[in-house]
Amino acid sequence: MSDPKSYHMSSDEFKKWGYAVIDWIADYHETIESRPVRARVKPGEIREKFSPHPPISGEPFDRILEDMETIILPGITHWQSPSFFAFFPANVSGPSILGELLSSGIGVQGMIWATSPACTELETHLMDWLVSMLDLPPKYISTGSGGGVIQDSASSAALCALLAAREEATKQVSNHTGCTMPLACYASSQAHSSIEKAVRIAGIGSDNLRIVEVDSSFAMIPADLERKMRRDCEEGIQPFFVVATIGTTSSNAMDPLRKIGSICRDMGVWLHVDAAMSGTAAVCPEFRFLFDGLELADSFCFNPHKWMFTNFDCDCFFVARKASLIHALSILPEYLRNRASQTGEVIDYRDWQIPLGRRFRALKLWCVIRHYGIEGIRFHVRKHVDLAQRFAKWVNESDDFELTAPVPLNLVCFRHVNGDDFNQELLDTLNNSGDLYITHTRLEEHLTLRLCVGQTNTELSHIEHAWDLIQKTAFDLVRKSR
Ligand SMILES: Cc1ncc(COP(=O)(O)O)c(C=O)c1O
Repeated sequence: MSDPKSYHMSSDEFKKWGYAVIDWIADYHETIESRPVRARVKPGEIREKFSPHPPISGEPFDRILEDMETIILPGITHWQSPSFFAFFPANVSGPSILGELLSSGIGVQGMIWATSPACTELETHLMDWLVSMLDLPPKYISTGSGGGVIQDSASSAALCALLAAREEATKQVSNHTGCTMPLACYASSQAHSSIEKAVRIAGIGSDNLRIVEVDSSFAMIPADLERKMRRDCEEGIQPFFVVATIGTTSSNAMDPLRKIGSICRDMGVWLHVDAAMSGTAAVCPEFRFLFDGLELADSFCFNPHKWMFTNFDCDCFFVARKASLIHALSILPEYLRNRASQTGEVIDYRDWQIPLGRRFRALKLWCVIRHYGIEGIRFHVRKHVDLAQRFAKWVNESDDFELTAPVPLNLVCFRHVNGDDFNQELLDTLNNSGDLYITHTRLEEHLTLRLCVGQTNTELSHIEHAWDLIQKTAFDLVRKSR
């Protein structure tokens, strides 16, 4: 009897194209330095190249691979170029890519323990590994009152922390009645925009987010935090949530956790620590002083998808009281009831996050940690920090450029002494060259250039080339303007 009709890809075809895709990815990474780092296309230019109608009949896979080369790649900004210094990195590695592939290959949806026990148990195990790898407070270990979970992003982690804090502050009623209590939360002017977004989504309202002042290193001033909290109390508004950042996005400023933490303890307020990129640095003992006081926090997150060689998306979120998080986020419809959950012996991570469904993200992180070992991750993190520090030294020694913020780790904020317009032109010219990609921020009202070292394969030669190019481009612009 002949096979029933099918449009599926056969196993043999899958193998053939699977090998071809791996070859394609390896070649892409090998040749990435020949491509302009930032995409050079105009809005709409890529879309114009797509067929206006979806195909009625399926197409051979090699046509798709051809289009990757000719249509997609010209519209790609090469985040994995070693000369990508923009924003914060989203670095990847061979083991992580393979881990992603394995996760796609088995295609599980791990919303509850019962839908794939290994998905949950590996995640719990890895979160415990990370507690020891980063020397995090023991209260985050899963066997106690706390635990860790992988979220898609630091934005989601902040929102989950905020919701749990709101429920604690309102004695678990605001989920039912809506939030009617006057509540206030606090973050520095340098906190990531995801904090304000979380405040909006959680129904607290941006007007109830107090912006705490920062010092000359752009770190939160604890005395201003305390002042603002006390003023709210006097006015009958309850402080309930503080976000401190270890490594702000603009300048990598480090909020003083111990002082902030003790104020939060005194006032019974939830402290969330956002270490989206810089959390990875805690893998190296010499950088752990930046996290001093973390034991006073109620939750903490960092993104292996930024600086731990793990494909986006992967945010590790730890809470001291998992019961509060679960209470805030759990709803149990009949169709999800199952024996394992009812025993209370298993973790159902759907109750630790916003969406129901969840990918098997732990696989890629497991592959990374097992491939590199702690030693390998430390080696590469140290190298990035060393490269950034060298760059900062060159800036410092130059008469034409100046540092605009301290450089605690791998982000250098700097500018040419000629002012904002000049720096904007310098930035545009550099990025249009295709040789590197850096981005900007504003510090004390002035345009500042940011160079962040975190792409997996960035080496000294890339930093040297970047510095040469920056100096030469600035020199040419000065000459042109005369
Ligand atoms: C300090 C900080 N917090 C939060 C975020 C948001 O990260 P995500 O994209 O994981 O939501 C970022 C992004 O760069 C960040 O730098």
